[in-house]
Amino acid sequence: MSHHILVLHGPNLNLLGTREPEIYGTTTLEDINQRLQQKAKDLSLELKIFQSNHEGALVDFLHENRAWAQGILINPGALTHYGYSLHDAILSVEKPAVEVHLSNIFAREEWRRKSVLSPACNGIISGFGVNSYLLGLEAVSKILEKT
Ligand code: DQA
Repeated sequence: MSHHILVLHGPNLNLLGTREPEIYGTTTLEDINQRLQQKAKDLSLELKIFQSNHEGALVDFLHENRAWAQGILINPGALTHYGYSLHDAILSVEKPAVEVHLSNIFAREEWRRKSVLSPACNGIISGFGVNSYLLGLEAVSKILEKT
């Protein structure tokens, strides 16, 4: 049976490719989504992918898809550091979640070193560029294999 995964991208990730490429690389969000879809095939997962610059839209997406989904992969963007309603939404839908970041948030500005979402997630992968997403998808898959 294939598992169903929600992939969420937070604010400003729509501009990947041109956004601060020295930090986030030149890969576009579309490229990342294609790589994820390819990996999902290998792992026999089905993905629903969503990007928004608005916290409430990400919360709505989690609510609307809670019956369909078994797991969550999320790069919350800057909401990582202050998105309490997103934290609560992850707990509300009661699915395993893996938090990912392109950059190593622990090696950057002080305010980026804390994630308010991590306590609602099973784990975090940070600092490996596009591979953070691919490793994160594998981590979600491993969690679901055990359930
Ligand atoms: C990010 C790190 C966040 O601090 C930042 O606000 C982002 C991207 C990352 O993927 O490295 O938007 O989540």
